[in-house]
Amino acid sequence: MTVLRRRLERLQAELRGRDIQCLALIPGANLRYMTGLAFHLMERPSIGFFPAEGPPAFVLPRLEAPRFEAAAPYEARVFAWADGEGPEKALRDAMMALPEVHTLAVEFLRMRVLEFKLVQRHVPNALVVDAAPVMDALRLFKDEAEVALMREAIRITEQALRAVVEEVRPGMTERTVASRLAIALLEAGGGPVPFEPIVLSGPNAAQPHGVPGDRELRAGEVLLIDFGTSWSGYVSDITRTFQIAEPPSPRTQEIYEVVRAANEAGRAAAGPGVPCQEVDRAARRVIEEAGFGEYFVHRTGHGIGLDAHERPYIVEGDETSLEPGMTFTVEPGIYIPGEIGVRIEDDVLITPQGAESLTTFPRDLIVVSTAGG
Ligand code: CO
Ligand code: CO
Repeated sequence: MTVLRRRLERLQAELRGRDIQCLALIPGANLRYMTGLAFHLMERPSIGFFPAEGPPAFVLPRLEAPRFEAAAPYEARVFAWADGEGPEKALRDAMMALPEVHTLAVEFLRMRVLEFKLVQRHVPNALVVDAAPVMDALRLFKDEAEVALMREAIRITEQALRAVVEEVRPGMTERTVASRLAIALLEAGGGPVPFEPIVLSGPNAAQPHGVPGDRELRAGEVLLIDFGTSWSGYVSDITRTFQIAEPPSPRTQEIYEVVRAANEAGRAAAGPGVPCQEVDRAARRVIEEAGFGEYFVHRTGHGIGLDAHERPYIVEGDETSLEPGMTFTVEPGIYIPGEIGVRIEDDVLITPQGAESLTTFPRDLIVVSTAGG
C-alpha cells in the first residue's frame, strides 16, 4: 500500500473514532500531507473533503484538477470548476457525493471565511470542530521517509551556513548577511523558506524574533543567525551564535557556555516516554541556576515537520509523551536587553534509544572573520 493510501486509512480511522463524518482541508501542510501535492492558497477556493468512509471528494479550480488527477494518490472524486462559473455548483455536487455529515472538522487556524461560508451553506446544522487534533495525531509521528526529507533540508541549511559564515566581515550589515544566506540556500537546492532568515548582531541579538536591519557587524560582538529551508515541504530550523573577529569577553563566554549547557541538557533529557515539559525544565534549570532565568523568555522548542511550528511544543504544561518519530527543536537562549543575545537551536528526532540531533553544526563559540581568515 502506498504511503498516501495508508495515511488516508489512518485518517479515516481517526475520524470514525471521534465520530466525525467528514474533514475539510484547504491548501497548506495538512492537504499536502494527505495528497503529496502542494496546492496554492489563492483567491480561488480549493477544498479536499475526507469522509470517514468512502472516497474523498476534491473541489478544485479547473486549472489545478489535472495535476491532482495525474498524481491520483488514491480513489477520489474531483469536482472541477471553471473561472467563469465559480465554485458553487462543484461544491454542491461534492457535498452531495459525501455521506451525511453531523460533525464536520475544519482547520480553525487555516480555513478562511471564504471556504467556511461555502461549505457551511450545505451543512447548516452540522457541529463544526477543529481538525487539528485529528491531523496532529497523524503528523506527530514522522516515518523514515519524512525524516530523510528533514535531514536533506538540514544538510542544505548547514552547508549554506558554513559558506556564509566564511564570508562574514565586520562592516557588513545584518541585512547583507541575511540576503547571502537566502542565496546560499537557493544555490544549495533548498525550497521555499519556512521563515525569513534572522540575522542580529550585538545588542540586537537580544530580540528573539528581531528583523535584520542596517546595523553593521562590529568586531568583538556576537552574531546570531536563525534560519532554515525546506525540502519536499519538510523544514529545517537552526540557530547558531557566533563571535565576530575578536575573542569573546569573559561575560560573553560565560553567557554562551550557559546556553550551550542548557541546549545540551535539553537534548539529553529528551527520549521516549519523557513528557515535553521535562525537556523544557531541563534546559531552563541550567539557565536559572546560572542566574539568567529571567532572560530566557520563550519556550524551549517546538515541533517541526511540514510546518516550522507544529506539535509537540517543548513548554511547561505540555505533558505530551515524546515517542519515536517525533521531531522538534531545542533552542534555549539568553536575551539581555540592550546588551547581548545568545541562542543555540537544534532539530531533534526521538529514537527508540533516546534523542538524535539531526543538526550537527558545531556548538562551540566560533570566532568568524579572524585575521587572515
Ligand atoms: Co529557529
Ligand atoms: Co525554532
